[in-house]
Amino acid sequence: MCGIVGYVGNKNAQDFLVSGLKRLEYRGYDSAGIVTVSKNGEATLIRAKGKIVNLEEKIAKEKKDDKIGIGHTRWATHGEPSEANAHPHQAGSIYLVHNGIIENYKDLKETLKDFKFESDTDSEVLAALIDSFYDNGKHPLVNAVVQALKLVKGTYGIAVISKNNPEEIIVARAGSPLVIGVGKDETFLASDASALVGHTKRAIYLNDGEVARLTKDSIEIKTLNAEPVSAKVEEIETNLAAIQKGGYDHFLLKEIMEQPESLVETLRGRINAETGVVKLGGPGLTDTELRKIKHLIIVGCGTAYHAGLLAGYYIEQFTPEITIETVIASEYRYRQAYIPEDSIALIVSQSGETADTLACLREIKKQGVKTIGIVNAIGSTIAREVDGGTYVHVGPEISVASTKAFTSQVIAMVMFGITIAQAKGVRAGALKPYVDEIVKMPEEIRAVLNEVNDSMKTVAGNYKKYEHAIYLGRGTAYPTAMEGALKLKEVSYIDANAYAFGELKHGPLALVDDRFFEMVLLPEGELYEKAVSNVQEVLARGGHVVIITNSDEFDLEVENVVKITTSLKLFAPILMNLVSQLFAYYMTVAKGYNVDQPRNLAKSVTVE
Ligand code: AGP
Ligand code: GLU
Repeated sequence: MCGIVGYVGNKNAQDFLVSGLKRLEYRGYDSAGIVTVSKNGEATLIRAKGKIVNLEEKIAKEKKDDKIGIGHTRWATHGEPSEANAHPHQAGSIYLVHNGIIENYKDLKETLKDFKFESDTDSEVLAALIDSFYDNGKHPLVNAVVQALKLVKGTYGIAVISKNNPEEIIVARAGSPLVIGVGKDETFLASDASALVGHTKRAIYLNDGEVARLTKDSIEIKTLNAEPVSAKVEEIETNLAAIQKGGYDHFLLKEIMEQPESLVETLRGRINAETGVVKLGGPGLTDTELRKIKHLIIVGCGTAYHAGLLAGYYIEQFTPEITIETVIASEYRYRQAYIPEDSIALIVSQSGETADTLACLREIKKQGVKTIGIVNAIGSTIAREVDGGTYVHVGPEISVASTKAFTSQVIAMVMFGITIAQAKGVRAGALKPYVDEIVKMPEEIRAVLNEVNDSMKTVAGNYKKYEHAIYLGRGTAYPTAMEGALKLKEVSYIDANAYAFGELKHGPLALVDDRFFEMVLLPEGELYEKAVSNVQEVLARGGHVVIITNSDEFDLEVENVVKITTSLKLFAPILMNLVSQLFAYYMTVAKGYNVDQPRNLAKSVTVE
């Protein structure tokens, strides 16, 4: 999803803008552009359709040593991907980059009859509107931006510069994140802190409704109503190694393989292996508040939704008298759902910027329900708007397909559930199996990754020719199967869908033919035998079955069995999901597709 960078200081602006946009590439985009302005007010606007390498080729022919500029990677919403629709957009002497959607751009365009539009975008309308108030410098640029934004409906993160004053960048946000990097005689801007890593460790996260004027040695923030805002400088946690591939071919494989370490970070200081006590400071709920909880609403999109579904299965196993509802954010926000007394909402989001999830959070808060974030991105909008929260601390997740965040989101929510159970007086003995398995999980993950990684390349290759897949599981293996299907479809473009195994005979079984292969998650346990019977139903219809199991008993004739060796019983599906992740990865490599930036997708979906 689109990216913004900006620079004003004493160094080469083009260099920072390009390096910053490259750091944001993982978010997904279709075109890119930069504009820099020289000390004597000469602007150099360079834009290109496609990947940043296309932009770099054009910049090489127009190298400038300007010290101020802004840049953008676009994820088209209004107007096809093209150079004309790429940002920055020019209007008179100003240039603008924009993340988000100007919902009333058509009405605004009507008021700008004299402006000669050159693109189909909503963003160019905002540029023209600002220019109409700026009137070639008759008014301060910041005032022109504020006047224009007061007419805007929609979401935006914007940066604006003018040829008339190559000393200042005006930035503003409502719904699309912006972070200001505080340097020494230089100021940076980005829509994601990863673009600032290596340049500064000091960041100011802009809030919705705020406008800032940046110069190389000053940062002045106000609200749209001109009320001064005192800037809170925060430390950027990320280090360079964390956002580089570390020797792996792709971020996706790196992030799959670093799950032992990332889960350790999620658990750090929160679980006592000896006493079995789980303590989460972030939610900020007293034992009395935890004891009162009768209803959990878990909200997320995509992988975060699947993590919520899976965590819900676990929490209801050990937390008495509690109902759990896991909902898709983009649906729930428009429902008129009744939220009972004594409810708590878990808001799950890796990026902390997903528009639908954020909108749900705001709706739920309006109903007076306490919200707890299960978020990865430090300082993200959701993390700052929830009442309390637990960061999963998996480090930057760069690949569009979420992997390490899923595992840690599930465990973070299970730990939150354990704190409820502890407060409700559930015997430590009943919780001990969960705690013991969680404590062992990082090493179990490492063992399974080492056990299956090499074989998954072959297994995936065996199914490369298929265009359709069915993922199947019962109990906790069912939401895990949903996550496995999403992984495969979003990176390899195979039409993969998951079904509760017991549901297959109620319709989806009709699909089984040579066009499909079936990926079955088959954990040991009370549902094992039933699931084996379901496998036989599929085999009887000529299914092409792949089994992922931790059972030594499985003896049916199927095309492939991926056996995982683990002492985990309760959380075996989490380990089976590692197999699904690697299967999706190697399938995509075998197909030669873009592993980390699948077509049409963005890492953080900040539009609705
Ligand atoms: C998962 O692999 C996808 N990239 C996508 O479904 C993602 O989980 C979803 O957009 C939610 O993102 P979030 O966790 O950042 O809110
Ligand atoms: N709505 C704008 C456009 O389509 C910005 C899209 C984005 O966020 O990249 O150009």
